Amino acid sequence: MKLIVVENKNEIGKVVGKMFVNAVQANPKIVLGFATGSSPETTYQYLIDDYQRNNTDWSNVVSFNLDEYIGLEPTHPQSYHYFMNDKLFNHINIKKENTHVPQGTGDYVVFVKQYDEMIKKAGGIDIQLLGVGTNGHVGFNEPPADFNSLTGVVDLVESTIKANARFFDSIDQVPKQAVSMGIKSILNAKKIILIADGHAKTQAIKQLIEGEISNEWPCTSLQMHNDVTVVVDKEAAAELLRTSGITLNENK
Ligand code: GLP
Repeated sequence: MKLIVVENKNEIGKVVGKMFVNAVQANPKIVLGFATGSSPETTYQYLIDDYQRNNTDWSNVVSFNLDEYIGLEPTHPQSYHYFMNDKLFNHINIKKENTHVPQGTGDYVVFVKQYDEMIKKAGGIDIQLLGVGTNGHVGFNEPPADFNSLTGVVDLVESTIKANARFFDSIDQVPKQAVSMGIKSILNAKKIILIADGHAKTQAIKQLIEGEISNEWPCTSLQMHNDVTVVVDKEAAAELLRTSGITLNENK
C-alpha cells in the first residue's frame, strides 16, 4: 500500500485529480469507479478545471459508481445520481450513457444482481476511487463486512446515518438502506485510490494502513489488494503518524 500525506483537502484534489487526468489521457477508454461524499469533491473540481483548461477528452470513458441510497429518486438532491451529475458529469464531456450509478428505486433488487456483470462486461474497473467512513466502511459496506460480498442491498448503521445527516434537513430523512458494490466488487478493481481528510477519519486510516485485517474495519480488506494508493491530509494521518513515530518532510 502506498501512502501519500498532503497538507489539506485541496491538495488531495490536486494529487488525485492529476492521477485521473493522466490515466484518462493515457487510455481514453478507461473504466473508472467513482465515489460520492464530501471527500472526492476537490478531486472532481480538479477534473472540471482541467477539462475547461486542457479539454481532456472524456467521451469514451466509462464509469461505475459505488453506491446509492434506497428510496431516493435520481432527481433527489441527496441522491448519488444527482451528486455525480452536479459535481462532475454535467461539467465534462463524459457521455451519460457511459456512466452507471446503482439504482436505488424501482427494480433495484433485480438491478443489484446485474451490476457486477455489467462491470465485468465493460472490462472491469481500471481505477476505483474510494472514500472511507469514520467506522472504516468503504462504499456502504458497514462493519462487520462480508469480504466476499458483491453488489447488494445493505443496511446502514446508526453512526453512518448520523454522519450523513448533515446533508439532509433532518436525520429522519436519511435512508436506512443503500445499494452498494460489495467488498469483493471493490477488490476486483485493478487499482484503488482511497482518499480521506479531517480528524474524524484518523482511526479509520490507522486501521487501514496498519490494523489487522478484520471485518470489523471493512477498509482493512484493501490490504489484500496489490495496488492501493492512500492519499490523506495531515489530520486524517495524525493518529497513524503519532503512533508510528514517522515525521513528515516539511521542506517541500
Ligand atoms: C458515505 C459513502 C462512502 C463515503 C463515506 C465517507 O456514506 N457511502 O462512499 O466514502 O461515507 O463520506 P465523506 O467523504 O462525506 O466523509
